[in-house]
Parts: sequence; structure tokens; C-alpha cells
Amino acid sequence: MSSQNEIRRLTAPDILARKGGEPIVCLTSYHAHTARIVDAHCDVILVGDSLGMVMHGLETTIPVTLEMMILQGHAVLRGSKRALVVVDLPFGSYEVSKEQAFASAARVMKETGCGAIKLEGGRRMAETIAFLAERGVPVMAHVGLTPQSINTIGSFRAQGRDEADWGPIEEDGLAVAQAGAFSVVLEAMAEPLARKLTGAIPIPTIGIGASVACDGQVLVMEDMLGLSPRVPKFVKRYGDLGPGIEAAIRAYAADVRSRTFPGPEHVYPMRAKVKQN
Ligand code: KIV
Repeated sequence: MSSQNEIRRLTAPDILARKGGEPIVCLTSYHAHTARIVDAHCDVILVGDSLGMVMHGLETTIPVTLEMMILQGHAVLRGSKRALVVVDLPFGSYEVSKEQAFASAARVMKETGCGAIKLEGGRRMAETIAFLAERGVPVMAHVGLTPQSINTIGSFRAQGRDEADWGPIEEDGLAVAQAGAFSVVLEAMAEPLARKLTGAIPIPTIGIGASVACDGQVLVMEDMLGLSPRVPKFVKRYGDLGPGIEAAIRAYAADVRSRTFPGPEHVYPMRAKVKQN
């Protein structure tokens, strides 16, 4: 039985109901400690496969495995109470068939406790999205720039900057909404297209490099905190934690080398001897 004061975690239907309303705030997190901070301010925590680049220094998201996603997803669930946690299905874990997608999604949901999964692709994933949604898996879709397709698209470039290119992207957005996705990430997309798509589909659009016209926004946390060496144009830096971390580590190393750390306040004193008469 849940007590009245217990915090209720947001669900995919809660996020769907926010279409056209108060902007949905989403940020990535891959650890329990950062999840705790994000949870206090955001509606959705995305355990994105960007963790391959951010945590492991990979060039792309292609080598990321289901096990990596589950490990970090589990940590984020432990650190959060209120936000909807969405875990990315990594490349190779869902594209073969809708059955493969269900098996991967079910494993992620069982082993992390997350409330939804995200997968990349528009029309080509519509049948899979419908299959998952009908079987209890809330799906956040992802169209526009889809980083898992880097080897076929060739570069991480913005989409829809020529109106002539809009058709397929609009069709992708409509297809995932019709298939039953509860929201869709629009990545690196010209503003007029993002605006049109947001107006045309009944599910929330979560923009990353897709303008303020979207129903919500997502960023990669390390990018906005100034911890990533290179960031795309669409990232606003809300912090510059790198120099602070470096200064702290430099001071620690100096203290250890000069034997000024640990100081008397950091060591365990002996217990006072009890006098025996
Ligand atoms: O993996 C990720 O962090 C993402 C965001 C860029 C939307 O998919």
C-alpha cells in the first residue's frame, strides 16, 4: 500500500498528456548520484546510448551493448524517485524483428525497472513500435538525425534545412505517432520543420537541436555542464565544471605529495584507555 506522502513516479501516459502544455524537461543521466539531482528538476531522465561516447570515450554509439544500457539504467533507477526513466535500446538490439525488439525491451524493463524505452527510426520502425506498445512497452521514438545510422548517413548533420527534404521526415513523425509511440525525439532539425511536425502530431515532441517549437527539450548532461570536449551547435553550456574538477584533483595530488592530506581531522584517533583500578 502506498502512503499519501510517497512520491509517485511519472509514467509514459503522464508525459503523453503534456502534449501542447507545460514544456517537458528531459536530461540524460547514467549514474545514481547525478540521477538524484536531475530527478529533482526534470520530468524525464534519459539513459541514452550517448553513454558510449560520454562514459566510454567511443567515437559513435554503435558499439554500445544492451548490458551497458542495463547497468547504467539500473543505477539511474536507484538514484531517482519521480522522473520517468527512459532507457535507449542500443544498435543491433531491436532492428532484426519486432520479436527481437520486444525481447530486448522486456529485458531492459525487467532488469532496470525503467518505465519506457527509446529506439531510433521512423516509418521503418512503425510496425515494431505498434507491436511493443500493444504488449506493454511504452516507446519514445527518435527521428531526424539518428546517430545509430551514422555509417549509412555519413555525418552528424542537421536535417530538413531544405524544404525539399521535409517529406520523409514528416512521414517518419506521423508514422511513429500513429504506431503508438508516447513521444518522439526530434534531433538536429531545422526549426520550421520541427514546428510543423510538432503541430501535426498528437504526441509530444522532445527537441535536441530542434528549436523551442518542440513540446519539450533534452540535452546530454555532460555537454551542458561543459565536460564534453566537443559539442554540437545546439548545446547551450549551463556550466563549466571541467576547470573546477581539474583544480580539485590538482590540489588533491599536491596534498598527497606534500603529505598534507590526510590531516589530523581525517584520521581515526585511538580510543582513550579505560583506567583499571
Ligand atoms: O543517447 C542520447 O543521449 C540521445 C539523445 C541525444 C536524445 O539519444
